Amino acid sequence: MRGLKGKNVLVTGASTGIGRAIAVRFAEEGANVAVNYYSGDDEAKETQSQMAAARQAAGQDAKDLLIQADVSKDDQVETMFSKVLSHFGGLDILINNAGVQFQAPSHEIELEKFDKMLDINLRGAYLCARKAIQHFLAQGKGGVIINDSSVHEVIPRPKYVGYTISKAGMKSMTQTLALEYARDGIRVNSIGPGATLTPINPWKDDPEEKAKIESNIPMGRAGTPEEMAAVTAFLSSDDAAYITGQTLFVDGGLTLYPSFRTPWT
Ligand code: NAI
Repeated sequence: MRGLKGKNVLVTGASTGIGRAIAVRFAEEGANVAVNYYSGDDEAKETQSQMAAARQAAGQDAKDLLIQADVSKDDQVETMFSKVLSHFGGLDILINNAGVQFQAPSHEIELEKFDKMLDINLRGAYLCARKAIQHFLAQGKGGVIINDSSVHEVIPRPKYVGYTISKAGMKSMTQTLALEYARDGIRVNSIGPGATLTPINPWKDDPEEKAKIESNIPMGRAGTPEEMAAVTAFLSSDDAAYITGQTLFVDGGLTLYPSFRTPWT
């Protein structure tokens, strides 16, 4: 894709799932990639080795960096950005991917878990966006932010109230930041994944549960992390130079009101 080679990218929560696939895709495109992870050095190193293999296969030569940090903690975000900027000499693209979800009836969920979903999914994304924008403005070259939102920024989801609030907030954050910084050459967009085969969904390894979930998806299957990474790369690239403030749903048709697929009467 145009305009990704040589760019400096930070991907949060990139030791597993969609974040890992995004890091690998950017490596394949010839970008320098900082891999943020919360825990599990081994998983982060696995991302790094998959990036090295992708780079080699594509004939690319670029740098990478592993950075442990909790995106919901201001001081850790501050340190993470200092490390990225001193290692790469700048930042061009931020991918806010880190996220968690907990299921419980809305009247019973432990407040600690509710707070965690907002702290990591929404506040964490804002803390990183804030630092990235400060840098983009100081650098004077614009920049790109992609938020990993969800179909649940628009589809209500019983028993996931903290999660849906965090993603609906992310939609508003995407639109507000996009409008506020459009004249500064900063583009802000989201991807809205549907059900995707990653560790956040334990059903991916249970054939019966998986089939049940996939029967609700118009295209009849869950998405892959690589499909999410491809759209993230597109929105980050110069091919998407005139797109800002949007969520691009990557969901096999989940946002198309699937229960209307067959006539009700
Ligand atoms: P995942 O569980 O593999 O990835 C989430 C990543 O976030 C993990 O690597 C985890 O360590 C990291 N993380 C958690 N807390 C963190 C913190 N405080 N600081 C830094 N990193 C932290 O699952 P997946 O699916 O790859 O999730 C990535 C994003 O995609 C999330 O924001 C999720 O909400 C979103 N998403 C996923 C969907 C799916 O079906 N898999 C559907 C819609 C959205």
